[in-house]
Amino acid sequence: MKTALCYVSRHHGNTKKVVDAIKQVGDVELIDIASGQTTDLAPFDAVGLASGIYFGTFHPSVLRFARQFLPEGKPVFFVCTCGAQRPGYTRKIAEMARAKGCPVWGTFTCRGFDTYGPFRLIGGIAKGHPNKKELESARAFYLHLQEKGGKGETE
Ligand SMILES: Cc1cc2nc3c(=O)[nH]c(=O)nc-3n(C[C@H](O)[C@H](O)[C@H](O)COP(=O)(O)O)c2cc1C
Repeated sequence: MKTALCYVSRHHGNTKKVVDAIKQVGDVELIDIASGQTTDLAPFDAVGLASGIYFGTFHPSVLRFARQFLPEGKPVFFVCTCGAQRPGYTRKIAEMARAKGCPVWGTFTCRGFDTYGPFRLIGGIAKGHPNKKELESARAFYLHLQEKGGKGETE
């Protein structure tokens, strides 16, 4: 399965650690959305969209990128890192995928070091995340998704 894993990792490079881990176990091309390059995602079997969580959702540049470049009907999956895990972080991006008729194959979430706002005063939260175990889980997530996705099973 040839996968484009499109990411933004601005705050501490947390999400980059996760996409790098996933790349180790598959035929995965990493696309840095911040590079601003025009991207043809049509040749890929699946597209991953990845970023930190900013004010309860994916980074706005990921949402913009997906709106512009995600082909209709292309299988997608989501990867995010966040200071604190809460439900609903994928709501907006999942709605966008649904509007394009893209089946959602799965979501990987883990914590990521966060020094935003008041958290900076206490040295940040989720220090040391993503950790080794979480990166291992990210690799396992992708391998499982590859197997499941190939059979046409969706979230
Ligand atoms: C401006 C800003 C807003 C954030 N908002 C949230 C949030 O709503 N929920 C959360 O859990 N983490 C939030 N965070 C923490 C990041 O999601 C977390 O540190 C993430 O791992 C950053 O990923 P990155 O280093 O790949 O950019 C925020 C961080 C910043 C800088």
